Amino acid sequence: MRLAYTDEGPGPAVVLLHGFPLGREMWKEQVAGIGSMYRVIAPDLRGHGDSPAPEGDYTIDEMADDVVELLDTLGLDDPIVLGGLSMGGYVALSLVARYPERVRGLLLMDTRAAADSPEAAEKREELARAVLAAGHSGPAVEAMIPRLFARVTLEGRPERVAPIRELMESNTARGVVGALRAMASRPDRRADLAAIRQPTLVMVGEEDVVTPPAEAQDLADAIAGARLEVIPAAGHLAPYENHAVANAVLLRFLDGLR
Ligand code: MLT
Repeated sequence: MRLAYTDEGPGPAVVLLHGFPLGREMWKEQVAGIGSMYRVIAPDLRGHGDSPAPEGDYTIDEMADDVVELLDTLGLDDPIVLGGLSMGGYVALSLVARYPERVRGLLLMDTRAAADSPEAAEKREELARAVLAAGHSGPAVEAMIPRLFARVTLEGRPERVAPIRELMESNTARGVVGALRAMASRPDRRADLAAIRQPTLVMVGEEDVVTPPAEAQDLADAIAGARLEVIPAAGHLAPYENHAVANAVLLRFLDGLR
């Protein structure tokens, strides 16, 4: 599938995969902050943004295969640095497990390796049905917004919340349902973590309630040599909410890979 994408900046390629139900616009501050030194490539994953939202359920592996197709289209045969936030992290873990030769560094942000519990999968299915019944992404937006941000952002920085709401509202019911079912059916990737040889940075917002710091610590502990960075004044969208600190952390990691 041909994904829509942003491709900006010189230097080594860094591919950033957005969370659910967002889109590549969430990486604007990374394009601005690290795009003068690195080539930042940010696709809209299938079902999101300007990329196609085919009928039917998706899988996380399919979403990863779309990204590999994009790398091929761009002629990126040399391994890239791959980053993913939350659902984007699930996609990144699928990609690195199945195409390790395409990745030379890994950024796992506000994400986890475990699969959904049966209860979590059932909740997603309920949300998918609500979205289908509404015919728009609204129910997913209302379910997600209160859980995405740190308190300081949610209560005191409406100008940072509004663009994320807009981004989520722009996604179609079909795409949102496809992605919800992809996440609900994703495999447990914890057993793959020991095989990761790429230098890895794990990042999490200190107030992330979706994938809390304790889970990020487990992720970092399971990957040889991985480091955990906890981003202050941030929830589940750490690189968006506190881009000044997150970009400094990202640059330090990327510069270390040069
Ligand atoms: C995301 O931000 O991508 C989602 O919160 C991930 C999830 O619901 O598991």
